Amino acid sequence: MKIIHDKQAMRVWAIAEKAKGRSIGFVPTMGALHEGHASLVRAAVERDDVTVASVFVNPTQFAPHEDLDSYPRTFEEDCALLEKLGVDIVYAPDPESMYPKGYATYVTVEGVSEGLCSLTRPHFFRGVATVVTKLFCTVLPDRAYFGQKDAQQCAIIKRMAEDLDLAVEIVEMPIIRETDGLAMSSRNRYLSAEERQKALNISAALRRAQAMLAAGERDGAAIVNAVREGMAPLDIDYVVLVDARTMVPVDRICGEVLLAVAANMGSARLIDNIKFAVPQDNEAALEMTAKENVPCC
Ligand code: PAJ
Repeated sequence: MKIIHDKQAMRVWAIAEKAKGRSIGFVPTMGALHEGHASLVRAAVERDDVTVASVFVNPTQFAPHEDLDSYPRTFEEDCALLEKLGVDIVYAPDPESMYPKGYATYVTVEGVSEGLCSLTRPHFFRGVATVVTKLFCTVLPDRAYFGQKDAQQCAIIKRMAEDLDLAVEIVEMPIIRETDGLAMSSRNRYLSAEERQKALNISAALRRAQAMLAAGERDGAAIVNAVREGMAPLDIDYVVLVDARTMVPVDRICGEVLLAVAANMGSARLIDNIKFAVPQDNEAALEMTAKENVPCC
């Protein structure tokens, strides 16, 4: 495994691999790696001929009051894990080379970036879309792997790849959880033992919602209320039911929906979600549409 810091060297390597007819799988990360990241890397290693993982704590997606300086940095451990997983290149550019003096260009994805996490972090998705575009331009991936854990981020990257004609397939991978249900996150290490215990209310509430959906509940408000109730001991940021592709709020479960939640917990902000699909030709959905005479999907 090679570690590349230099942009030009990264692109030269990528061009050479492409010339040999090899597909490049890419996993962008901010480091402090855990099993969630590892699952993306495993998928890339299995599917693509060569795999690049980037480790870059991207300053443009942090607001001045956020944890850019204290974000966990564990580069050596990250590299050891990536090597074990079979990564070919770790790309770790310097902030100064990514955003040199005079830097002025940003990527904004409209619509899907609105609501959910952008209500409390309005700067966030512009920073993500910008850095991912820049990384794609250097790594030249055929496929890039993202986690459903950050469902809005993933929807934004898919929209952006389609809109900007980026020749890259975006692969969305399932959420990896601790055995007790907590969604893995680099920021979980900020939690005290007591906070961590309390945080379990999130996945428990989502499991309850999943059971309601599986039992046939199709009323969005009933599901959102049940999740809010389950998360009551926490400082809730949002509990929303949206179309999984557009992030537009929905009242009725129809097509693919995303039930997404966020809560503040000490210095950490925890997000989690589930997706649920009701086939569009589902009899019950059609019946409901006909009965209530409201357009569905
Ligand atoms: P980071 O938080 O390091 O996450 C990198 C990738 O790992 C993202 O695609 C994220 O969704 C995925 N991931 C994190 N936790 C996961 C889990 N529990 N299960 C499955 N996948 C998980 O997301 C970012 O970095 C940055 O915004 C980035 C895209 C790298 C741009 O800076």
